[in-house]
Amino acid sequence: MPLVVVVGAQWGDEGKGKMTDFLAAQADVVARYQGGNNAGHTVMVDNEVYKLHLIPSGILYPNTRCVIGNGVVVDLQVLCEELQYLREKGVNPDNLVISERAHVIMPYHKEIDRLQESAREAKIGTTGRGIGPAYVDKVGRSGMRIIDTLDVDRFRRRLQEILPEKNLILKALGHPSGFTVDSLTADIQRYVTPIKPMVTDTSRLIEEARKNGAKILCEGAQGTLLDVDHGTYPFVTSSSPTAGGASVGLGVGPNRLDEIVGVMKAYTTRVGEGPFPTELEGSMGEVLRERGHEYGTTTGRPRRCGWFDAVIARYAARVNGLTGAAIMLLDVLDAVETIRVCTAYRYRGTVLTEFPSDVDVLRECEPEYTDLPGWMRDLTAARTYKDLPDQARAFLGFLERQIGCPVRYVSVGPRREQTIVIESVF
Ligand code: IMP
Repeated sequence: MPLVVVVGAQWGDEGKGKMTDFLAAQADVVARYQGGNNAGHTVMVDNEVYKLHLIPSGILYPNTRCVIGNGVVVDLQVLCEELQYLREKGVNPDNLVISERAHVIMPYHKEIDRLQESAREAKIGTTGRGIGPAYVDKVGRSGMRIIDTLDVDRFRRRLQEILPEKNLILKALGHPSGFTVDSLTADIQRYVTPIKPMVTDTSRLIEEARKNGAKILCEGAQGTLLDVDHGTYPFVTSSSPTAGGASVGLGVGPNRLDEIVGVMKAYTTRVGEGPFPTELEGSMGEVLRERGHEYGTTTGRPRRCGWFDAVIARYAARVNGLTGAAIMLLDVLDAVETIRVCTAYRYRGTVLTEFPSDVDVLRECEPEYTDLPGWMRDLTAARTYKDLPDQARAFLGFLERQIGCPVRYVSVGPRREQTIVIESVF
């Protein structure tokens, strides 16, 4: 039975929440493998909008097992609030399990994130959720894992080891007081009790499910260009949203990943700082922002908008090993007369067809565009590939040739039924 990874192929916010929700209908297990509550997934079911930051969107299906994997960083307060939010909306979250190896975002991580960001001259535009500092501690071996929180004495001992250094850092950054073991114990332990029954060895659980023939869906957050290795460093997040992250972040062997679906918008968006070659600053950027409701789910920030960038899409196909693409928000282009697709960059007189590693090079890249005729029709009622007008099919065919992998899904609206399946992954 297939194990499918859904990855963002651009700068995040590609519509992974919707695609995951759509595919989750066929999945037995939905697992998140990296990131934390910097992510924001919006899913619409029967006119009801659900906004989730940490819990996999598969939770909206009553029989789907949902996993927060070891590669995720968990803000326990946010987790408890999200569980409560779901219960208030009539969703039972009891199918959720959390890896005992996942790291906890501690209150000092959030403070360090904010203080570091405000001290930075070249801002990254972090979400301020403590993500970067939590991953720094994980790699630096001074992190707090969920398993370390379960017993209060062990939790206090761990804090006694790691807190002095955190307080020194906080002081150097101008924090007025730092934290004490007592205050952190009181703060964190009240969230531990409700989640304790959900904590387990999730790698083992996934492997057992796989052996029993379960369909497994791995849900990435953020996107390829925010990947700490493959993204536009340093304007990246601190984890691995690319497909390899699914293996590490869930404890699943790389040879178990059967299908890798790259989710991408029919145009491009970015939140936060950093170069963006196809960015549109004039009225067309506004059209995309308003029609696409391009405002961050987590921070509410307006997203920067631009044309589809095939250099990025090809790069995402390579570093993720995409076996298919899902083209999202195609309907946002319904009223665009001429649609532009960037196929290469011009950099100091030379043509680049591969995505550069250096953000300073990227900053100087000018897009080379191919113009395609728009369809100038409402696509939101299309349900099959045949329902799409010739121009929309030609646009998708062009993207497919540029990306180098088949387009397997097309989304023409926020609802589950507004999804065209060309070739299913399950
Ligand atoms: P951090 O993940 O909060 O450290 O932020 C690092 C960068 O990643 C910033 O540019 C954020 O705007 C961006 N980022 C983080 N999470 C998301 C997301 O879910 N969607 C889009 N951008 C994100």
